[in-house]
Amino acid sequence: MKTKRAGSSFQKMSSDRKLESVFLFVTGKCNAKCKMCFYADDMEKKEQDLTFDEIRKLSESAGEFNRLWLSGGEPTLRDELPGIIEMFYTNNHIKDANIPTNGLRGDRVVEWVKRLRNSCPDLNITVSVSLDGFGRTHDTQRGVPGNFYKTVETLKKVDENFAHDGKVLKNIATVITRYNLEEIIDFMMWSFGRLNVLTHTIEAARGMTREDGVKILTEKSLLELQDKIVPFYAAYANRMAEGVTGFRKRVTRFFYLGLIRAMYTIRAGNIDKPTPWGMDCTAGETTLVIDYDGRFRSCELRQPIGNVKDYDYNVQEIMYAQAMKKEVSEIGHGYAANCWCTHGCWIMSSIVFNPGKMVSKIYKGYRQTKKLSKPLNLSEQLLTDLELKYSLDRGKLAQIGIL
Ligand SMILES: C[S@@+](CC[C@H](N)C(=O)[O-])C[C@H]1O[C@@H](n2cnc3c(N)ncnc32)[C@H](O)[C@@H]1O
Ligand code: SF4
Ligand code: SF4
Repeated sequence: MKTKRAGSSFQKMSSDRKLESVFLFVTGKCNAKCKMCFYADDMEKKEQDLTFDEIRKLSESAGEFNRLWLSGGEPTLRDELPGIIEMFYTNNHIKDANIPTNGLRGDRVVEWVKRLRNSCPDLNITVSVSLDGFGRTHDTQRGVPGNFYKTVETLKKVDENFAHDGKVLKNIATVITRYNLEEIIDFMMWSFGRLNVLTHTIEAARGMTREDGVKILTEKSLLELQDKIVPFYAAYANRMAEGVTGFRKRVTRFFYLGLIRAMYTIRAGNIDKPTPWGMDCTAGETTLVIDYDGRFRSCELRQPIGNVKDYDYNVQEIMYAQAMKKEVSEIGHGYAANCWCTHGCWIMSSIVFNPGKMVSKIYKGYRQTKKLSKPLNLSEQLLTDLELKYSLDRGKLAQIGIL
């Protein structure tokens, strides 16, 4: 029986600013060496991860909030991860948990999501698997030989186990760099045709990267790319709206396409230089980032402004602390703000908290996607040709169950 993904907190717009999303870096350890990783420097510090008990204090003091975004390091290397999510489900009544992974430990992903489906039945779980390109490209960008096939296998296992479970959303997350820009359209086509995920997000590499020179997108090239990938988003919107009928189907497509396009337009405007988003960034008001060692920030791109250890792990105290007030005031509001970036998660989160200002942008975004959309013309022959073009091992793909 198909389980519905109902009541995701993200679909609700609100002008009431309060803690909505906690971004918790559950570990500073990683089993990959990605060239574009924005967290490489932080992980290099090799500080101790917050203990389960320390995280429990954070959860007990945070009050109710909707979304828990896990991060790291590699979250599957944190043995207590399912217990941590269960704790936030019980104490904070979270509605959505986002579990990003590099896909090297697929066994754990499946085992843990199964456990969470029993222990947290109402939780929407997004399994966001990082896949940056075909075979060698992915392995080079991630610094791990064989990573591509392992990650594809993880996606397959997640699909086999949760294909009909609407509470488990499968996403592919791709970071655009100099390594994969040339093949991204082919890669999105292949992924759509072979990997049966519900969404495929692309992010422009941002922040301090492990390797210099990996960020090559400009406003012009990003805008061009974003226009070219509209047909994929239209196809994903249709996949998402499968099983939904009538007015709800139209609304699902409208919001999905309109929101993504609005976010993409804002993002492209910030790649060469900071440009006002046309709405407030709500970092520090609705979001809190907690690093693996307890340092905290308003968003992933700004500097830490304290350590939870100095606030007795009290999240409410942190959100109302002088340091956070100062941070929010330094970020600023509206067109007079001082800080703009390309971070899709924060653009998206902020759109939700600026409904009045964003309705026209979402509508405009939807209209643009309608104009740019065309059928994908996907065929078995095309997918096979792509596998040959990018020297994929079709025997291995068949073994994994992709072919
Ligand atoms: C920091 S990782 C943590 C989860 C896991 N280790 C992984 O790679 O999926 C979270 C996401 O950020 C992406 N990412 C890493 N460096 C980035 C950068 N410089 N710009 C944008 N996204 C980046 C990763 O590819 C991944 O999808
Ligand atoms: S992007 Fe993820 S997998 Fe890659 S080095 Fe960073 S934390 Fe590790
Ligand atoms: S605009 Fe970007 S960098 Fe600035 S506060 Fe918001 S999310 Fe952080």
